[in-house]
Amino acid sequence: MELIKVTEQREPGVALIELNRPKELNALNHQLMTELLGALQQLDKNDLVKAIVLTGNEKAFAAGADIKEMADKTAIEMHLMDRFTTWDQIRKTKKPIIAAVSGFALGGGCELTMMCDMIIASETAKFGQPEIKLGTIPGAGGTQRLTKAVGKAKAMELILTGRFLSAEEAHFYGLVNKVVPVEMYLHEALQLGKEIAQMSTIAVQLAKEAINRSFETQLDEGLAFERKNFYLSFASEDQKEGMKAFIEKRKPEYKGK
Ligand code: CAA
Repeated sequence: MELIKVTEQREPGVALIELNRPKELNALNHQLMTELLGALQQLDKNDLVKAIVLTGNEKAFAAGADIKEMADKTAIEMHLMDRFTTWDQIRKTKKPIIAAVSGFALGGGCELTMMCDMIIASETAKFGQPEIKLGTIPGAGGTQRLTKAVGKAKAMELILTGRFLSAEEAHFYGLVNKVVPVEMYLHEALQLGKEIAQMSTIAVQLAKEAINRSFETQLDEGLAFERKNFYLSFASEDQKEGMKAFIEKRKPEYKGK
């Protein structure tokens, strides 16, 4: 791994992935995205990891897809390279991913934060889809996910002008969970991961899957999906332990089984 750093147990049960191309403001080139996918797939299989925090550095989470890598490409070359397959696979990660964002989260960087499940932002975070200034449009989900996150009017404004959204505005529009001082954003994200890591891994994954389903379906179908996952949780030892511990007035001991 050259362009990312992985710490498997940054906190008990919480892995940390740091994007590590600081000179290029963590521009997301093919190698970095491939390494990121590989790391997420490994962590997804690692029973000791219950939640994943993804971060950049104080100046930049990521300033977008690598412009230099794609500037000269033709439409057909872009199509044949099919780089977004990697991004689609990242979306399949079962464990919860928390983006810890400071500085620039632009273009593909903003899209990557929106592919995560929760976002903790430092006061210095800036979100945006500035592709329009490059004569193109978002290609990794920005037009869809930003619209769902902040609503049509704001998404139109941001995507058609390339303006940035401050951390405070991002919080106001519901794009991020929480805004904290810059020295706290990573800590806050890790704490959130730690809290989730104490829950039943199975229940966490079933819940994540059901929430994500709400973006793909009508209410009836989404409710049916939720109900199946709810019933499925009753096949786990963790559900039995969780309810038994409640009745016995003690802390549950989850095994992820
Ligand atoms: N791709 C490639 N290189 C990038 C980059 C990117 N997205 N963003 C920054 N860099 C490089 C710069 O070229 C520069 O490299 P050199 O030192 O070799 O010149 C280095 O990172 C530092 O950047 P700046 O000197 O520009 O730093 P700054 O502090 O003056 O400005 C910035 C910061 C406003 C974020 C500016 O770098 C910028 O506008 N970056 C591009 C943002 C952008 O347009 N992102 C969208 C990309 S397209 C996309 O993401 C498509 C998609 O949907 C998948």
